[in-house]
Amino acid sequence: MKIRVNPMQNVEVMKKCISLLNLLFVSLIASAGAVKSPNGNIELKFSVDGKGRPVYEMTYKGREVVKPSHLGLVLAKDKHASMGLNENDLMDGFTVTKEETSSFDETWQPVWGETKDIRNHYNELAVTLAKEFSIPKYTGDGTAPGTLLEAHQRQIIIRFRVYDDGIGFRYEFPQQKDLNYFLIQEEMSEFAMAGDHMAWWLPGDYDTQEQVTQQTRLSEIRGRMKEAVNWGNSSVAVFSPTGVQTSLQMKSADGLYINIHEAACLDYATMHLELVDAETKALTTQLGGGSNAYTPNPKPTGYPLPQPFTFVSHLTPDATGLKGAMQTPCETPWRTVMVSDDARDMLSSNLILNLNEPCKLEDTSWIHPTKYCGVWWEMIVGRGSWHYTNDFPSIHLDQIDWSKVTPNSTHKANNANVKRYIDFAAKNGLDQVLVEGWNVGWEDWANMWKRDVFDFVTPYPDFDIKMLNEYAHSKGVKILMHHETSSSTQNYERHLEDAFNLMNKYGYDAVKTGYVGDIIPRGDHHYSQSMNNHYLYVVKEAAKHHIMVNAHEATRPTGICRTYPNLVGNESARGTEYEAFGGSNPDHTCILPFTRLQGGPMDYTPGIFVTKLSEWSNNTSWARITIAGSLALYLTMYSPLQMAADLPENYEKFDDAFQFIRDVACDWDDSKYLEAEPGDYITVARKAKGTDNWFIGGKCDENGHTAVVKLDFLDKDKKYDCTIYADAKDAHYETNPQAYTITKKVVKAGQTLKLTEAPGGGFAVSLVVKSEK
Ligand code: NOJ
Ligand code: CA
Repeated sequence: MKIRVNPMQNVEVMKKCISLLNLLFVSLIASAGAVKSPNGNIELKFSVDGKGRPVYEMTYKGREVVKPSHLGLVLAKDKHASMGLNENDLMDGFTVTKEETSSFDETWQPVWGETKDIRNHYNELAVTLAKEFSIPKYTGDGTAPGTLLEAHQRQIIIRFRVYDDGIGFRYEFPQQKDLNYFLIQEEMSEFAMAGDHMAWWLPGDYDTQEQVTQQTRLSEIRGRMKEAVNWGNSSVAVFSPTGVQTSLQMKSADGLYINIHEAACLDYATMHLELVDAETKALTTQLGGGSNAYTPNPKPTGYPLPQPFTFVSHLTPDATGLKGAMQTPCETPWRTVMVSDDARDMLSSNLILNLNEPCKLEDTSWIHPTKYCGVWWEMIVGRGSWHYTNDFPSIHLDQIDWSKVTPNSTHKANNANVKRYIDFAAKNGLDQVLVEGWNVGWEDWANMWKRDVFDFVTPYPDFDIKMLNEYAHSKGVKILMHHETSSSTQNYERHLEDAFNLMNKYGYDAVKTGYVGDIIPRGDHHYSQSMNNHYLYVVKEAAKHHIMVNAHEATRPTGICRTYPNLVGNESARGTEYEAFGGSNPDHTCILPFTRLQGGPMDYTPGIFVTKLSEWSNNTSWARITIAGSLALYLTMYSPLQMAADLPENYEKFDDAFQFIRDVACDWDDSKYLEAEPGDYITVARKAKGTDNWFIGGKCDENGHTAVVKLDFLDKDKKYDCTIYADAKDAHYETNPQAYTITKKVVKAGQTLKLTEAPGGGFAVSLVVKSEK
């Protein structure tokens, strides 16, 4: 399969009004270095201060969103430091040599998504900055530079795109004589907040995002940090008492919703944010280890600390401590700031997708939304095992004759059990069955820093790969492949082609990958430039084999699923598995759509009906959600890949409620966020792809919520069979999670539904066009 760059891909309705908008632009630009959003609500101003430092600021309806904030990068000296070039940071000494403005307006169609059409409409300001400097002339013969000075110049471009729902900006580095290769010690993009906002945040961590979201004011982050860290995760690397992750959702005292994230993080390290607060003396310096390839520069000391409530970008280092190795021409990801006075706009925004490149896959016909169940939850809760034998304290993959080892009788990826799930999927219209633990190597897979941990092609003796795939296909079901890499990335890359060929041979078209534990090569981190390149390499190679990818523990998404839509899911946050590891708070799923989901869908694996796990296992943990709340997640946690995570036998006990999971779509022509408040509640209505049927979901926190849903989005000429799955009056996530009611009635446009959600609960509604008869 060929991959080509085609910016017009998927664009049916393409309207470029550039010349018209350029005329309009004359009136939109208040002064040089300023640009407004198409509706005029957001204004972005750019200038260069007295020291030649780039500065930007942003307002929304005249209110401050980002106060004047500096931009720039600190470079690391490389081993050619004698050339002196990299001692010149891209921080100050700049003059503006060019300012260009333009506008763009197109409507494009995603391969899968929340809406059929997405409008990409912005005004742009691109500022070219030049920095002149002189350094001792390099002799080129290996001897020390002399005293003769030589003049140099470097140019960078800072490009701003201003949308109605926020801004994006990035640094661009054109190829030039004095800027070809460079090493990034730190990016120093500032985001100066206008007040002590409420924030929904996760500790900044180079290796995990599987934490409980904290809700505090900015000034309280430092005090909360220690207890916020998920020290129990198998790979943890926090870097600062005020370091947080993106996507960061905030709310100002006067009701502005502000979100900072990034878009199109390609060939670059994932960004965190370090907050400057009243106690900050200096920004965190990442000191590298081991390599002599560069000398780490400390964070610049020659610049004053920004004011309190300013976030400063902090990139994820690789094993050397370095944060980026760049070759021009190149650019950074977009840094995004979304803003609105209506929380619903945070959820309906397409800013991050729009800042990514159009689809690069020529043929996308093989990419499809997928509903799946899996041989999974019973291992996560501890009732079964991924591994096949208890014979060995450790294993060498090439030294074991698997036909001779003693089976442990807890191995769940066995023929009989997998067939049971296939039958269940076939009976209930589910597309695929995930099977984990099918391949040899699980005996000592985790946290051993073991390089040759899996080969991704050898099944355990009780998993008949040919028979099971044929059995599944005969019933219209596919098996979903699982590749746990144990973060041994070079091992995975070595086996990738064979692994994908095996998938093609047996008819798999989707893989769930995983990166549990510390990264091998040792010292590297999950979100470094090198690891981000690894994840993308896997996605691109998978596309050549027509394979969809769902990567767990990989870096948080930044909208690259627009460019590579075979990236159908990521975990990259605390998923349902944590309901078996002590549980998540009831408000967790009312925060994730504001944060983690901004960059792309999450494989949250919802659908737990038997929430008290001790009812069927020895696990005493429990899911803090009602059954009706679990149904709501299929709507409120948008993903083209949706799991029904509970066991077949648990669903069989509640078959009338399971009907909703059978019915619900996972691809949409339209989505309308009806109610939203971060951490409290989310209500959304979605129109199923290619139909006139709608589904509505509402999810709330531990306080309960009453949703008032006006059915004004329905077709006025039609009647709908409406089925409401609601919490019973006495339902409660802790004391009575399985109490629900199912009500059926006929409704039409203009009517209003009032739906009461229990503490930790929610509701789900299906609206199917009534046949004319
Ligand atoms: C962590 C993943 O999130 C989980 O879904 C998977 O079952 C385990 N790793 C094993 O790969
Ligand atoms: Ca995980």
